Amino acid sequence: MAGISSTTAKLIFCLRDLTTYISLTSRPSLLVCSSSTPTRTIASTSTAKKEENKKNKKKKKKLKLEVKTETSAKSTSKVGLVKEKRRTRSEKEFDKEAVHRYGEKASHIPVMLAEVLDVFSSSCWRPLSSFVDCTVGAAGHSSAIMHAHPELKLYIGMDVDPVAHEKAQTQINNILHGDSCSLASDLKVYTPLKNFRHIQSVLSEIDEKLLGAGVGGILMDLGMSSMQIDNPERGFSVLGDGPLDMRMDPQASLRAEDILNSWPDAEIGRILRDYGEESNWRTLQKKIVKARLHGGLHSTNDLVDLIRNVTPAVRGGRQGWIKTATRVFQALRIAVNDELKTLEDSLYACFDCLAPGGRLAVISFHSLEDRVVKQTFLRNSQWQG
Ligand SMILES: C[S@@+](CC[C@H](N)C(=O)[O-])C[C@H]1O[C@@H](n2cnc3c(N)ncnc32)[C@H](O)[C@@H]1O
Repeated sequence: MAGISSTTAKLIFCLRDLTTYISLTSRPSLLVCSSSTPTRTIASTSTAKKEENKKNKKKKKKLKLEVKTETSAKSTSKVGLVKEKRRTRSEKEFDKEAVHRYGEKASHIPVMLAEVLDVFSSSCWRPLSSFVDCTVGAAGHSSAIMHAHPELKLYIGMDVDPVAHEKAQTQINNILHGDSCSLASDLKVYTPLKNFRHIQSVLSEIDEKLLGAGVGGILMDLGMSSMQIDNPERGFSVLGDGPLDMRMDPQASLRAEDILNSWPDAEIGRILRDYGEESNWRTLQKKIVKARLHGGLHSTNDLVDLIRNVTPAVRGGRQGWIKTATRVFQALRIAVNDELKTLEDSLYACFDCLAPGGRLAVISFHSLEDRVVKQTFLRNSQWQG
């Protein structure tokens, strides 16, 4: 095998992760935001700066178009925030060795690994001295970044899920203590079990000067890992029976079961419509509320049975109910974890954590996430202008 294309890599992920695959009406996409000058400098009102801002406004108009048309073209600018859009179906080839090292044996295969490495590569930018992985998962992306950047002085890997967190710690320890470790002996490594919405406090707790100085790279790989989907006890999987849980953070109080069995009717409908983009939301809302009269829904199988019964056989063919179930599960997961609001708030927090010239890369998996990321990037660049 002479290397795996990024399209194939997406397929590997999808095959291991049926629920996510079915929900993927769009391919995973990677959006990158780079801060070429510090925020405070951009906000300065010197004449030269005003001239630069004018130029940037023109560039931003072009940039908006690029995002809308979803090209893989790369836009560059010396000042302000620059977005690049790359799709999975890019020309990028996965490095065979990297896939073996960070993918094949891992419990979660990192998607768009080559693209992520490229975004943070020194040739694209400059030596990467500090890096935050907001969604460390099984540390696939993080391991590859560590391998590619022996110059790293600070690495932070966050995850809200204790299972992923433990897995990541083991993997990172193996790298640090491995024979082939080329990382600097003074590299500082932190792996806080934290929601990425707390990125700013994480940085200032590590070193109060860090927030002011910023970090060189930040990665967000949104969604669930295969470890989460493959464990029916977490309630994320349409195909395996388990409790209606769906919490990324098992310490959080709200579970899918609470929403289904106690939230107001209209809220159930809103979630299905807005977070699941499910056209049959009215019927599903009625059936879910009606199920409360018979004791409610308590397992993923209860919910799947309800969906199967209300999904007409003609709708989407024989597998139509799986597509509906996937949309319903996505809707509940977004609501349980308040994913879209958390994402938007966290993106702004991440912008504030970037050093001049730093880069924030986000891998998103569905159109709702994608929209939040694009809009927040654009809004931020407008504020900077
Ligand atoms: C797709 S996986 C990341 C996989 C990782 N990039 C790798 O290579 O192994 C997403 C991870 O993000 C974590 N996560 C989701 N929402 C989070 C949040 N708000 N804060 C921190 N971690 C989060 C999940 O627990 C999961 O482990």
